[in-house]
Order: sequence, then C-alpha cells, then structure tokens
Amino acid sequence: KKILVLNGPNLNLLGKREPNIYGNNTLEYLIEHLQKVGTSYGVMIDAFQSNHEGDLIDQIHHAEEENYTGIILNPGAFTHYSYAIRDAIASIQVPVVEVHISNVHAREAFRRESVTAPVTVGQIVGFGFFGYELALKAVVEYIKRGD
Ligand code: DQA
Repeated sequence: KKILVLNGPNLNLLGKREPNIYGNNTLEYLIEHLQKVGTSYGVMIDAFQSNHEGDLIDQIHHAEEENYTGIILNPGAFTHYSYAIRDAIASIQVPVVEVHISNVHAREAFRRESVTAPVTVGQIVGFGFFGYELALKAVVEYIKRGD
C-alpha cells in the first residue's frame, strides 16, 4: 500500500518558519520519520510539497491513477479558503486525512475555519509533527476497515 503525504504552501520552510509555532525540525526530517513509521504499518510513503494551489490539485487528481490508498494532507493556508482544493478532494475516492501542526483553534480567527475538512475523513490539529503519525495511523485503520 502507498500513502501520499501532501504539504501545501510554506511548509517547505519548516524548521526556519516561526519555530515557536511549527518547531525546529524540517520537512525532510518529517518525511524520513514518517517513512520509518510507515514500514511498521507495511505502507510506503511518498511525499510532495508545493507552494502552488494548482500543483496540489494535480497531485490530488493523480492520487487515484497512481494507486495511492490514502492521502495525508496539510493544505497550509489554503485550508482556510481554497474551494478548488476542497472540490478536488471531493472529486476523488481516495480517503484524505487533514493535518495541522499547530492548534488552529488557538490562533487567529481566520484559521478556525477549514473549507477542506468537511470533505475529508477527519482532521488532526495541534499535535505538532506527531499529528502526521496520528493521521497515518488513522488512514491505515480507515482503509483496513474498508468503509
Ligand atoms: C498550518 C496552519 C495554517 O493556518 C497555516 O497557514 C499553515 C500551517 C498548520 O500545519 O498548523 O501554513 O496548516
């Protein structure tokens, strides 16, 4: 089984970007760590990051033909306003779990709304990088149950 980990805008700057909010570790570290955790679940992890809405949409569309069984998605700020990403998620059968590193509910008011979450299986927020591990476990269990 293959899981796609999709990260949106500014997440390439993890480690440098507002470390008080997002921590000191890099995206590269996150992906390598997830790949290790993935082997214990018997899943392969591919990762893609883009700062561009359309590129993220293309990846979401291709997830089906590329045989991904699940997607872990952190859409970054697109979470709060990208109807196009929301529609892309709604257009595919592959289950998507949304992740946010920070607790979006404890920050600015505009971060409380996610336009993408309603078309995902569920959302994990506020647990730092560990949230991606929780999302991985969630998506693996979800697929196993086949519902
Ligand atoms: C984020 C939260 C968003 O509000 C923000 O724009 C990000 C990161 C998070 O992982 O906490 O870029 O998605």
